[in-house]
Amino acid sequence: MAGKLLFVIFILYFYLCGLKQIVPILMKLAYIIIAVTAITYAGCKSSKGAQSSAAAPAAPAAPSTSDLVKAAQAKWPDITAQTIDEGKDLYNTGACTGCHGPKNIAKRSEAEWPSIVDRMAHKAKITDAQKDAVLKYVLAMKMASK
Ligand code: HEC
Repeated sequence: MAGKLLFVIFILYFYLCGLKQIVPILMKLAYIIIAVTAITYAGCKSSKGAQSSAAAPAAPAAPSTSDLVKAAQAKWPDITAQTIDEGKDLYNTGACTGCHGPKNIAKRSEAEWPSIVDRMAHKAKITDAQKDAVLKYVLAMKMASK
């Protein structure tokens, strides 16, 4: 719309003043367009920045292996970081992700998890030791988030 108007004014000026005068006018027009574009872009960028920082607060950091080991020690005093890491890998990137992504651990209760892991371990065809590691990792995550 504004572009069309400018174009009409430009053509009118061209008719009225002839070719010689057109160069400085072109320069002025170019400056105006650049300035308007820059201001619009800056405004758009800053409002976008404000929106995204408000809409996406930093996710809480996932508990580290040592946090998980500490939490799990309440239940299994001699649990090792190796078991937790094995369970974590199976759960997040290994056999447990063969059919679906890692499920939200917080959504199921501590009481529900053992039977779910039993059922899924069968589907995933993992060993009893691996199943044990997955369950310990999941329950450690629950205990660490309390
Ligand atoms: C062979 C495919 C397959 C593999 C491997 C698999 N799952 Fe599943 N999982 C499913 C299907 C299908 C469902 C949905 C139906 C159901 O609940 O049985 C599901 C559902 C789930 C649910 C939701 C169950 C509920 O009752 O809310 C959880 C949690 C889960 N899987 C965890 C795991 C874990 C942990 C592993 C690794 C030990 C795993 N899955 C491996 C196929 C699989």
